[in-house]
Parts: sequence; C-alpha cells; structure tokens
Amino acid sequence: MAEITGLPEPAPEGATALVPGTYDGQTVFVTGGGTGLGKAIATEFARLGANLVIASRKPEHLEAGQAAIEETGAEVLVVGCDIRQAEQIAEAFDAATGRFGLPDVLINNAAANFPVPAEDMSPNAWRTVVDITLNGTFFCAREFARRHLAAGTPGSIVNIGASYAWTGGPGFAHSAAAKAGVKSMTESLAVEWGPYGIQVNGLVPGLFPHEDMTADIRSSLDRTHEKDPCQPAMRVGQLRELGWAATFLASPFARFISGHTMVVDGANWQRRSMTNPAVVTIRDQMGKGPFEL
Ligand code: HXC
Ligand code: NAP
Repeated sequence: MAEITGLPEPAPEGATALVPGTYDGQTVFVTGGGTGLGKAIATEFARLGANLVIASRKPEHLEAGQAAIEETGAEVLVVGCDIRQAEQIAEAFDAATGRFGLPDVLINNAAANFPVPAEDMSPNAWRTVVDITLNGTFFCAREFARRHLAAGTPGSIVNIGASYAWTGGPGFAHSAAAKAGVKSMTESLAVEWGPYGIQVNGLVPGLFPHEDMTADIRSSLDRTHEKDPCQPAMRVGQLRELGWAATFLASPFARFISGHTMVVDGANWQRRSMTNPAVVTIRDQMGKGPFEL
C-alpha cells in the first residue's frame, strides 16, 4: 500500500533551476525584501546574478535584507520607503536607478495583516491594511511602469498575493479584500501594459512559516493545530520554493506568461468538502468574549 509521505522535499538550499547568471546585469526591486518571503525571494534572484534593491520602512529589516544579499556576493541597495507614500516610492526608484539603472523586475511583496473579527475592526485598521497591501502595490507598479514606458524598455512585475483572494479570509477580511484587489489589478495591468513589453503576474504563497512573522500572525497560527498534517502536501512550504517560482515568472523563460496568478501551496486551498470541521467563530478562535458595542 502507498505510504502517506506527502509531497517530496524540494531541491536543497542554494540549488537553482534557472541557468547560473540568468539575471546577470539585471536589477530586481523587492518591497518588504528584508524579512520572510521577500528576503527569500530577493536571495534567489541574487543567487542568479541580479543586483537587488530592497525597500521597506524599518532600518532593522533593511539591514537584515542587506546582510542576506551580501552573503550571496550580489550587489544590494536598501532604501527606506513606506509604500503608502507615492513620493517615497518615486524617491526609492530614483535611488535605485542612480545606483544600478532602472530596475528590470519589481516584486510587490510588502503587505500588512493582522487577525481581527470584522465587527471589532476600526475604520483605520481596515484602511491601513488596504492602503499598504492594495494601494501600495498599485503605487509601486505605477511608478515602475511609467518609467519603463517613458524609457521604452520592457519589465516584469510579480505581485505577491494570498489564496483568500478567491475564498475570503474569515478573521482577515481587510487583507483578503486587498489581496482580491491585487489579483484583479494584476489582470488589468497585464493587458494594459503588455503592448509596452511589461509582464504582470501574481504569485500566491500557501503556508510558509518563518522567523520574521509578526507576533499577530504567529499567534494566529499558534492557535491552530499542527501545520504539516493539515496540508495535502503533508508539509508547509519552504521559503526557497517561493523564491524559485518568482525567479521563473520574471525570467526570459516565462515571457508569454502574463496576467496569471500562480499558487504555490501544495494544493492546500483546493482542500474543501461539504463536511468541514465544526464552525468555531473568529471570536472564539481568538479567545475573545462576546461582542460589545
Ligand atoms: C486590531 C489593529 C491591530 C490588531 C493594528 N490595528 N494592529 N487592530 N488588531 N492586531 C489597528 C490600530 O489600532 C490602528 O487603528 C490601525 O490598525 C493602524 O495601526 P498602526 O499601528 O498605527 O499602523 P502602522 O504603524 O502603519 O502599522 C501597520 C500594521 C503593522 C499593519 C498595523 O502590523 C505592520 O506594520 N505590519 C507589517 C507587516 C505585516 O503586517 N506582515 C504580515 C504579512 S503576512 P486605530 O483605529 O486604533 O487608529 C500576510 C499573510 C499571512 O499578509 C497569512 C498567514 C496565514
Ligand atoms: P512579513 O515578514 O511580515 O513581511 C512583510 C514585509 O512588508 C516586511 O518586510 C515589511 O517591512 C514590509 N512592509 C509592510 N508595510 C510596509 C509599508 N507600508 N511600506 C513598505 N514596506 C512595508 O510577511 P511575509 O510572511 O514575508 O509576507 C510576504 C508576502 O507574502 C506578503 O504579501 C504576504 O501577504 C504574503 N503571504 C505570506 C504568507 C505566509 O505564509 N508567510 C501566506 C500568504 C501570503 P517594514 O516593516 O520594514 O516596512
């Protein structure tokens, strides 16, 4: 009888599917590239020869991203930038262009999220998550595309999403709505900018736990059962698996893929049935008492 082993382990850290030097001479701009998945994605581009630009708000994150990229031997520029502020994005692209030339690839990875029952969510909490995750992603894409259109050069954008863009995300109504917006925007922009040589794709991670997860997200994960056996793959994602997908989507081997959102989650979001486990309210999941006005 077949054993329950789940999906095999990925190739080892440091291995690359694309030929070495695929990104030689190219520059990749990664928002939120100093932590977690953004750092892992940036590292895979660096291993393939790219120069990296990492943009986010916190100096400690930028330092961590810089250290990770320098370890690969690649060149890196870090820039303080809040992607809610269009003028800060423009300044970050000026700095990137001054150092390496106009970035060839934009990875829109930065996002905001915390678990909260919808009825408890303040208008500003909603606004903050949508502002970073959806508006910030558009502002970065817009800055990148305008510069390429003006220069007459091609480029590639990868927007990092989440599978609750399709399913909804109880406890994460703000983030799920924002990610649904990102998926739709990916499709619009791919059509608008394809004629000018700009690819726009989405990349959706499944569950990829990592040491940089915010306390809010970590505590939300800690409230649920063991992670590996809940996945059809019988394991969670390993960071490099997302990095490899990003380097493929933005590579010369994926030029005819545009407007597509690729899910890297071992089929977890398709795992649905009419007999799901009993419903537990978000308030109960979060250990919150009854709602009070
Ligand atoms: C309820 C909260 C809250 C919480 C903040 N707020 N945290 N409400 N529960 N846990 C509210 C605040 O009270 C405030 O509303 C509003 O949100 C803005 O909060 P600020 O702290 O002023 O915002 P800011 O300093 O801009 O920080 C943004 C942030 C923060 C989103 C709140 O967490 C952050 O910087 N996050 C970046 C990293 C991140 O979120 N990573 C997760 C990506 S993971 P009021 O009304 O009081 O003014 C992901 C998918 C993971 O996206 C899926 C895994 C399963
Ligand atoms: P993370 O470590 O918390 O990364 C979020 C990054 O976004 C941080 O580096 C943060 O840097 C940056 N950021 C947040 N707000 C910003 C702002 N206003 N301006 C500029 N940068 C900002 O989370 P992660 O798990 O790596 O998530 C990365 C991406 O994957 C996100 O799009 C997330 O939605 C998606 N995702 C992750 C998972 C998972 O399992 N990890 C699952 C589904 C989707 P600063 O704090 O320095 O600004």
